[in-house]
Amino acid sequence: MLTTRLKDDNWALHQIAERQDTPGSLIKGTMPKDGYLAMLAQQYLVNNAFDQALQGILPEHQAIAELILDEQLLTPYIAEDLAYFGVDPTSAQPLPGTQRFIDHIHAHKDRPLHLLGLHYVRLGACNGNSFVARVVRKAYALESPTQGTRYLDPFGPTQRKKWMAFKSGLDAMELSQDQQDEVFAGTRAAYVLAINLDLPEYQSDEQLLAKHKKTLDQKAFIEGHSVHVQPELEG
Ligand code: HEM
Repeated sequence: MLTTRLKDDNWALHQIAERQDTPGSLIKGTMPKDGYLAMLAQQYLVNNAFDQALQGILPEHQAIAELILDEQLLTPYIAEDLAYFGVDPTSAQPLPGTQRFIDHIHAHKDRPLHLLGLHYVRLGACNGNSFVARVVRKAYALESPTQGTRYLDPFGPTQRKKWMAFKSGLDAMELSQDQQDEVFAGTRAAYVLAINLDLPEYQSDEQLLAKHKKTLDQKAFIEGHSVHVQPELEG
């Protein structure tokens, strides 16, 4: 199944991604609030470019449009979070990693299946981000789950159900091997670009995998990412 491949053949990049400074310090609760707001502002720029690219292709691509629901366009959630904190979403200038991500989106705006792969990763990341949101709420004393963490946790208690529905829909699409490879390439690019958001100099997937080779641990990754066995992330 395509989604099994997207998960199993990207586990190493996922492990590298969650170790980066921004996701790593958010899940540990050590990110200062200013850093959280700066992350949201940069994500606003990336997601806004991405949602615009999607809106450019969805009217022409019925099967993808049936899969990517309006509620999965993440820009409005980030705008809501920034508004909650009184930050103007248009005030931020793109950092180098953000600009790289935006350039990649623009360069692939006519490649619907690549965009679908990019979308898979930002939507899938909501699984982990829903745990990050709990830590963030505690760290910045946010009282309501809907204030300030909508981007991290847009679907609340329906997260798992909605993610499973998205994956089933993707697996049900009739895609040739080449088309599946194109979705896969999009997921790979999304991981690499997300990792690079925190890096001053761009590093390719080969460079990242070589750099982290000695510390990658598939067994620990699988154990830590079964949603049934991670009570340390609960609460
Ligand atoms: C603190 C950081 C993170 C934690 C704790 C975390 C944790 C998780 C967990 C628990 C899942 C659910 C696994 C399952 O479906 O059984 C998940 C899924 C996923 N996460 Fe993360 N994650 C983190 C960061 C990221 C980042 C930075 C990205 C992307 C750049 C990402 C992309 C994904 C994707 C695409 C999925 C869907 C399933 C898959 O294809 O592996 N995650 N994550």
